[in-house]
Amino acid sequence: MTMHRRAVLSGILGGAAAFGLPRITFAAGEVQRVDDLIARMTIEEKAGQMTCLADAFRPFNPPNPQAGIQDEKRLSEEIRKGRVGCLFNGIGVAGARRAQELAVKESRLGIPLLFAGDVIHGLKTIFPVPLAEASSFDPELARSTARAMAVEATAAGLHLTFAPMADVARDQRWGRVVEGSGEDVTLTALLSAARVHGFQGRDLRRADSLLACPKHFAAYGAVAGGLEYGSVDISDETLRETHLPPFAASFAAGALTTMAAFSEINGVPATADRALLTDTLRGEMEFRGFVFSDYTADEELIAHGYAEDERDAARLAVLAGVDMSMQSGLYIRYLPELVKSGAVPMGTVDVAVRRILYVKLAMGLFDNPWRSLDEEAERTRIATPAHRALARDAAGRSIVLLKNSGVLPIDPSQGQKIALIGPFGEDRDNVYGPWAFYGDPGKGVDLATGLRAALPDAAKLAVEPGCGMDGPIDGGIARAVEIAKSADIVLLAIGESQTMSGEAQSRTTIEIPAAQQALADAIGATGKPVVVLLRHGRALALHGSVADAQAILATWFLGSESGHAVADVLFGTVNPSGKLPVSFPWESGQEPFFYDRKSTGRPVVDNRTEYRARYTTTDNSARFPFGHGLSYTEFVLDNLKLSDSAMRWDDTVEISVRITNKGSRRGSEVAQLYIRDRVASRTRPIRELKAMQRVSLSPGESRTIHFSLIRKDLEFIGQGSKRIAEPGMFDIWVGQSSTGGLHTQIELYAAALPKN
Ligand code: GLC
Repeated sequence: MTMHRRAVLSGILGGAAAFGLPRITFAAGEVQRVDDLIARMTIEEKAGQMTCLADAFRPFNPPNPQAGIQDEKRLSEEIRKGRVGCLFNGIGVAGARRAQELAVKESRLGIPLLFAGDVIHGLKTIFPVPLAEASSFDPELARSTARAMAVEATAAGLHLTFAPMADVARDQRWGRVVEGSGEDVTLTALLSAARVHGFQGRDLRRADSLLACPKHFAAYGAVAGGLEYGSVDISDETLRETHLPPFAASFAAGALTTMAAFSEINGVPATADRALLTDTLRGEMEFRGFVFSDYTADEELIAHGYAEDERDAARLAVLAGVDMSMQSGLYIRYLPELVKSGAVPMGTVDVAVRRILYVKLAMGLFDNPWRSLDEEAERTRIATPAHRALARDAAGRSIVLLKNSGVLPIDPSQGQKIALIGPFGEDRDNVYGPWAFYGDPGKGVDLATGLRAALPDAAKLAVEPGCGMDGPIDGGIARAVEIAKSADIVLLAIGESQTMSGEAQSRTTIEIPAAQQALADAIGATGKPVVVLLRHGRALALHGSVADAQAILATWFLGSESGHAVADVLFGTVNPSGKLPVSFPWESGQEPFFYDRKSTGRPVVDNRTEYRARYTTTDNSARFPFGHGLSYTEFVLDNLKLSDSAMRWDDTVEISVRITNKGSRRGSEVAQLYIRDRVASRTRPIRELKAMQRVSLSPGESRTIHFSLIRKDLEFIGQGSKRIAEPGMFDIWVGQSSTGGLHTQIELYAAALPKN
C-alpha cells in the first residue's frame, strides 16, 4: 500500500471521503440548541466552559506539576457553579460518573463535562513510544494501535487524548523527540493523520471514539538548541513547509481540537499568537474545532515577558484564539471582569464557547452524558490479550537493525551461552518509556524475562547489570567481564532511562552515559561477539565498542511487551523491518541534524574536505541515516522505470521499481521515494521523502511496485510563503534509506511540451 503525502493532504481538498472522516452531523435543531444555551449562559458559566482543570475525582500521578484545584470537595463546588468545562488526567469510570452527576444534575444548565488525558502510547496496554512506532513507516500500524488505545481510554472514562504529537523534531537533544514521529515532515504527517483516524474512528458519537488533539501548535520541535520550552526563530516559509503540514493532515483526518505550544515563534508565544492561532490556523488552514492552552501556558505569558500580569495573560490568550485554558484557572478568574470592562468583547467569548459546545455536541455528549462511563466496558476492554498481542507485534516492527555482521539472528536451539549485560537487562522501570503514567508500574516484560521465555534452556542465560544507568556499580564491570568471558555471545543492554527522555529532558549531548560506555568498552575488550540492544527516546551518537559491536538493534522504549519483542527479533521469529525516523549522527555536535538539509554553496563532494560544509572532525552526514534499517534477508531494487521523463504541468508520472527478496527468509522492506528540486527560487533540500511503500516478500519473490508523482508533489513554499511549483529538473530516487537508491530524473514543463 503506497502511503503518499498527497493522499494525506488531499483530505483537506477531498473532504470526508478522503479519510473516512468521523461522522460530524448535527441534526436539525441541534445547532439551535447550542445557540439557545449560549444565550442563557452567564459570563461566569461561559468562562467555566473554557476552563480545564486537573481531575481531583480520580487523581493520577501525571507528570504535571501539582497545581490548581486538587481536592474533590472544592472542585465539586466549582462544577456545581458551572465554573469547569473539562477535567484532565484522571482515569476510572466511578470518579468520572461522580463528576458528571454534579455537572449534569446539580449545575444550573447541566452542561456535561469533557474528560481528557494524555494517552500518548497506551493506557494500561503500553505500546511502543510514538518515535519507535514511526520506525515501522506504517500508518496502518499507527492507526491500529491508536484504535486499541482509544478502546481502553474510553473504557476508563476518557473522551479525549492529548495526542498525537505532530511536532517535527529537528534537534535530537530535545527530550520530546520520543513523543512524535521524527525529523521528517511527510512521515510525521502520514502517521499523525493515521493516529487521529485511529483514535476517533468513523463515528464521533460512538462510546469508543476518542477525540484527538494534535499538538503542540506550532513548531515546538524547532526549539533552538533542542532546549525544552525554548524559543523558536524560523522563517514563515520554514514554518509552513516543515511544521504545519502534519497539523493540516491531522485536521484533514478529522481532529476537532489542538493544543497551543509552550514555545514562542519569532518573539510571540504561541499561546498569545493571534496570527498563528486565528489567522493561520482558522483562516488559512480552516480549522473548525477548539484550541487548548498547554498546562498553565497562559499564565506563563508573564514569565515570557509578554504579559504584564495574570489578567493581561488571560486577555492576550483569549484574544489570540485559545478557547480552553488548561489548569491555570485564569479564564474563570479574569474573563468576567475583562468582558465587563470591555477589554474582551463578549462575542470573542461566545465564539470560544460555541466551538467547545459544538465539539461536545458532535461527540454526542449532550444526548448521552454517560457516554464512555461504562463499568462493564471498564471491566472487559482494558489490557486484553488482543491488545497485548498487538503491542508485541507493534514492538517487533518498531525495532531497527542498524548493523549486523551476521551474528544475528541467534539460533536458540544451538544452546549457546548468552550473557545479558547492562543496566536494562532485568530492568522493568524503563520498558514503557515516558508518558505512560497510566500503565501499571513493573508490569512490562523486561529483556531477561523475554529471553528466558524464548530459550529452550533458560539456564543458558546469565545476567549482570555491570553498571547503573547513570553511574558505576562497585565491582560491576569486573563481574560483567567475567560473565562475558564464559559466554558465547554478549547482549549489551544499554542506553537512556525513561527519565532521560520526554518533556523537560533536553540533553546537551546524545551519547550513551559515561558509566555505560565504560562497561561497553570493557566488554568489547574481551573480544566476544557483542550485540548492542539500545534503549532510547531519540537518536544517539554512538562511539567506541558500542559503535564497533558486531550488531546493533535500536529498540527505543517498546512498552508492555518489550522483552518478548526483542527476543522475537534476536532469535529470528520476527525478521526486523524497522527504518530510522531520525538520523543517527556521528557526533552530538552535529545537532540539529536532519537528512533533508540544504546543499550550501560548498557541499562535500568526492571526499574533498578543505573549505567545505563540514566539521573539522566529521562530515556532516549520518552514521545511520534517516530511513536506514537492515533485515535478516537481502532486498534488491532494480528496474526503475518512468512513464515519462517529461512531466507536463498537469501530468501524472508513474514510477515503477522491482523489489526482490534475494535471501533465505521472508521479510519486509520499505521502499522510499525521494525527490530533489535541482534549481528553485528558494533553495531546496538535497532530498525530500514523498512516499513510501512497505512490501513483504518470501525468499526469491519479486514484486514491481508503483508510485506516482504530480505537480503538487513537486511544490514547495517559495519566497513570500506561497506554495508554488517551478518548471525544471528533478532528481528522483527510489531506495531503502535517505542515501543511495536507484536514481532517475524528470523535467517539469510549465506549458505544453516544446515541439520536438
Ligand atoms: C504537558 C505537555 C502536554 C500535555 C499537557 C497535559 O506539560 O506539554 O503535551 O498534554 O501538559 O498533561
